[in-house]
Amino acid sequence: MTAETLKPTAILHRTPWRPPTAVSAEGIYVTLEDGRTIVDAVGGAAVACIGNGNPEVKKALKEQVDTVSYVYNMQLSNQPAEELAQLLINSSNGAFDLVGFVSGGSEAMEAVLKLARQYFYETKQLQRTNFIARQLSFHGNTLGTLSLAYHPARRAPYVDLLNSTNFHHVSPAYAKRFQKSDETEEQYVERLRQELEDKFLELGPDTVIGFVAETVVGATSGVVAPPKGYLKAMKSVCDKYGALFILDEVMSGMGRVGTLHAWEKYGDGASPDLQAVAKGLGGGYASIGAVLMSKRVASGIRDSAGFMKHGHTYQAHPLACAASLAVQKVVASENLLENSRKQGEYLSSLLHSRFKASPLAPYIFEIRGSGAWWAVEFEFDEPASGAPKVTFSNGGFGSLVQAKCMDNGLIIMGFHGGGSVDGTKGDHLMLSPAYNVTKEEVEKIVDLLVVSAEQVFKEVTST
Ligand SMILES: Cc1ncc(COP(=O)(O)O)c(C=O)c1O
Repeated sequence: MTAETLKPTAILHRTPWRPPTAVSAEGIYVTLEDGRTIVDAVGGAAVACIGNGNPEVKKALKEQVDTVSYVYNMQLSNQPAEELAQLLINSSNGAFDLVGFVSGGSEAMEAVLKLARQYFYETKQLQRTNFIARQLSFHGNTLGTLSLAYHPARRAPYVDLLNSTNFHHVSPAYAKRFQKSDETEEQYVERLRQELEDKFLELGPDTVIGFVAETVVGATSGVVAPPKGYLKAMKSVCDKYGALFILDEVMSGMGRVGTLHAWEKYGDGASPDLQAVAKGLGGGYASIGAVLMSKRVASGIRDSAGFMKHGHTYQAHPLACAASLAVQKVVASENLLENSRKQGEYLSSLLHSRFKASPLAPYIFEIRGSGAWWAVEFEFDEPASGAPKVTFSNGGFGSLVQAKCMDNGLIIMGFHGGGSVDGTKGDHLMLSPAYNVTKEEVEKIVDLLVVSAEQVFKEVTST
């Protein structure tokens, strides 16, 4: 679809190009206004975890509109919100005790920051004013979450407005890039643990509210899981100094890595004091996010104020909660996490075999992921086996492949300069299909992806 064939728009879009308009969608297939039907291999942005048009969710939404479409959360609660909160607690194996609803990922992380502070406010530790997060992280697009995170490109226009007094950063946990060649995984984790402890000591350990991390890093470096023992080691520092261990599972949570919570797979038993979830919670049927509170935080707040001193007009919206509840019931009753693990392994094996046989092979830095969430990272500056260095203009390889995929009928996320290497360099492609993706759909996705990546590579290297 060229710019000329697209209708004019009154929307200030988020992309330098004009995105085509979707007119209908079913499962992972999206039909555009020009009549083309394309495959969504990334669930929008790791959101549509059961695809579009699920009959159970449509039924739940219709019934909710007919029952209670809206009540304001400072006046009335509603049934789907109460049921959803209980379901989230019951499915957490005792990790969580209370839930607060919001309308998305950034709101969830803002609420996490404010609840963490509220906890220390209520428990009379007012000197705790510092958060420690990590470089190459993303926690949202509000000023608070941009201050917390460290995604240089997204911070750039606003950097002078961001708060560097209360938000501090330590190194990312990205073994394949940053573990030293003479270091074991254990030594790498110990180096990162020591760095966090040193940051606590530098700030004054009793001034730290908490350490915040994405359990698996998403939008910056692309599906980077922590090294073994890392989350447990970071939590031990928080515990030692009475601070909170906080996980952002906006992208990685609610089943994306094949377990309901990503820390269940990667935490070595370390559950968080506070956690944010969003994307897979509503599966795209509604704007919803949630903050999950451990017993420690829940008790601290329940035993004092007893309520959340933060909120928004649309939080715990009945329609959003009804949709989300239905999505979670579909994921559980259809055993979709098992399917996502199985199809994810198949996806990974196809990515490995197809790229191994491709002219892009020397440029593959890593193929990584789990569940229904995978990334392919490329290295064009220092390729393997003496292959020549390649330079891409026009937005970099990741962005070019994303555009080529769209032309070829596939939606993926292609990142360039988002943070794979240092926050400015690096290319990776991300796939996060619906948990109910089929074997045939996986084959189609990999085929279109590899063909598109090879086309971009050929176009650049043949000129
Ligand atoms: C880890 C993480 N946190 C927060 C957010 C922000 O979520 P939202 O875009 O719903 O505001 C995102 C979005 O991609 C994310 O990946």
